[in-house]
Parts: sequence; C-alpha cells; structure tokens
Amino acid sequence: MAEFSLPANSRVQTGVTYSAPKDSGSTRSFKVYRYDPDTEENPRIDTYEIDLDDCGPMVLDALIKIKNETDTTLTFRRSCREGICGSCAMNIDGTNTLACLKPIDEVSGDVKIYPLPHMEVIKDLVPDLSTAYAQLESIEPWLKTKTPPPPDTERRQSVEERAKLDGMWECVLCFSCSTSCPSYWWNGDRYLGPAILLQAYRWIADSRDEYTGERLDNLEDPFRLYRCHTIMNCTKTCPKGLNPAKAIAEIKKMMVVRQ
Ligand code: SF4
Ligand code: FES
Repeated sequence: MAEFSLPANSRVQTGVTYSAPKDSGSTRSFKVYRYDPDTEENPRIDTYEIDLDDCGPMVLDALIKIKNETDTTLTFRRSCREGICGSCAMNIDGTNTLACLKPIDEVSGDVKIYPLPHMEVIKDLVPDLSTAYAQLESIEPWLKTKTPPPPDTERRQSVEERAKLDGMWECVLCFSCSTSCPSYWWNGDRYLGPAILLQAYRWIADSRDEYTGERLDNLEDPFRLYRCHTIMNCTKTCPKGLNPAKAIAEIKKMMVVRQ
C-alpha cells in the first residue's frame, strides 16, 4: 500500500485514524482533508479504514459510509449520486472529478481526498463557489431574444443547429475544469475559467439566441477570456468527457472573424 506523508513544512497536520472493524475482509484507507472554520486549528488529514466488502463501489459510497457509521462531522456536498447534479466534485487521487463517478477500484493504495484546489474552503470538502456562480450570472446563461416569438409555435432549430449544442448541454457545472486550471488559480477573480466559458459558448452557439454580438463584447477582455493559455487541464480532467478548451477556442475564433 502506498505510503502517505505530508511535506515537513505543511500547515496541514496528520489527524485522527479510525480503524476498520476487526473482522473486515478487504480494508482500504481513505485519507480525507478536514477543516473546521469554527476551530482555531490548522487543517488536518484524517484516516478512515473501511471494509470494502461492506461498501458501495464509488468513492462517494465510502464518504457516505464514513459519515453514516464513523464520523458524522465529515462534510461534503452530494445529491444525485449519478453524475448529474455536479455537487460532489473534489480532488481524488490527485485529480479533480465527481466522487460518485469515481470507482474506488481505480485508485491504487490509499485514497486521498481533498477539496477542489485553490478555492476557499467552507468546511472539509466543501469549497466556496460564490465567485464561480457570480461569474456564471455575468454571462447571462439563458436564451435572449430581440424579436417576438412566433405566434403559434416555439422557436425552432434544425437538427444541425441543435447538434451544435452537443458537448455543452451535458455540463453539470461541477467546476472540476476551472479548478484544475493554473490561469484560474492565479486570476480566478478576473478570468472566467473553462466552466463559465463553456457555458458562455453554449449560448453563443445557440441558433435561437439573438445577442451573439453582445455576448462576445462581454467576453472581449484580456482577463475574462484571454487568460486562457490553452493549458488543456480542463479537458483532461472533465469527469463528463467534455472539451471546454474547444469551446474557448471557438469563442476566440469568433472574436477574430468578426473584426
Ligand atoms: S465542463 Fe466538465 S469539468 Fe467543467 S464544469 Fe462542466 S462538467 Fe464540470
Ligand atoms: S452526487 Fe451528483 S454529481 Fe455526484
């Protein structure tokens, strides 16, 4: 089993170890980041030994088991447990992903679980997404039109026009991509990041939307869009298999074409 140790100068401390029951069949250690703002203490890593013979297959199953059976104070977000709500995003085994889609079997050795990187931590595995949601609001993620709707039908799209939204509507806004991006780490207050830019392009590419020019104007900024340096971490990490880097490239292309 891989040895887990913190750097000597880390402010994160080694915490409590909760041992598995003596009759456990297949035991695995989960090293989980803990932080409670109500205490004066530095963050710590607690170790939970779990009997995998008595646990579901996903990392989220293990976290729920820990919370239900071992330590009710462990705090994390989750809702759907099937990759739809986007709320269980965290850093598992060094990669941002959705805990409910991450099989425990895919991790060798100890399972290391941290909150999404470079975000303020509210508690344990819960990051503060206030800035990210304010950025989402800033791109007005809804259909905007200038012409009145057709009198007796909805606004129609051709099959081809609808197909342009594939690869974007599936985004569950988990922010795994944005929080894997060094540009977003260093300039997250001004750079919108891949998750929001993918959302922006979802509306720019929508044939029914009539505010394309205004949407592009809103992104024409050295930071909001152009802090993307095509590092590609976003596409590599997306747990839904989407390609935010491509969406950003499409926006940049449209900026050039309209000049
Ligand atoms: S593009 Fe992928 S990683 Fe980024 S927010 Fe959407 S689902 Fe999450
Ligand atoms: S719990 Fe909804 S995406 Fe994981």
